[in-house]
Amino acid sequence: MRSATLLLVCCILISFIFSHVKEVEAGLSPIAASLRVRKDIFVGGCGSDGNKTCINDFVKKGGAANKPFSCECDNFGFEHLCRCNFS
Ligand SMILES: *[C@@H]1O[C@H](CO)[C@@H](O)[C@H](O)[C@H]1NC(C)=O
Repeated sequence: MRSATLLLVCCILISFIFSHVKEVEAGLSPIAASLRVRKDIFVGGCGSDGNKTCINDFVKKGGAANKPFSCECDNFGFEHLCRCNFS
C-alpha cells in the first residue's frame, strides 16, 4: 500500500513538472520562432570558413533537417561558439 501511495505521489509530481515545463516552453517558443537563431558550442576551431564549419556542426548534431542557412563563428580556445540562423 505504501509503495503504491509513493508511486502515485511521484506520478502527480512528475506530471506537474512536465506541465510546468511545457508552459515555459510555450512561453518561449514565439520568441524562438521569430528569431530562429540558435547558439551552440562545439569542439575545435572555426577553420578558414567559420560559417561552413558551424553549418556542418549543426548538421552533424541534428541531421540535415537541422541545417542552418548561415552562421557566425567565434573561437574560444579549443572550442568555438556558433550562432546560426535557421530558416
Ligand atoms: C554561409 O554559408 C551558406 C552556405 O554556404 C551561404 O548561403 C551563406 O550566405 C553564408 N553566410 C555568410 C554570412 O557568409
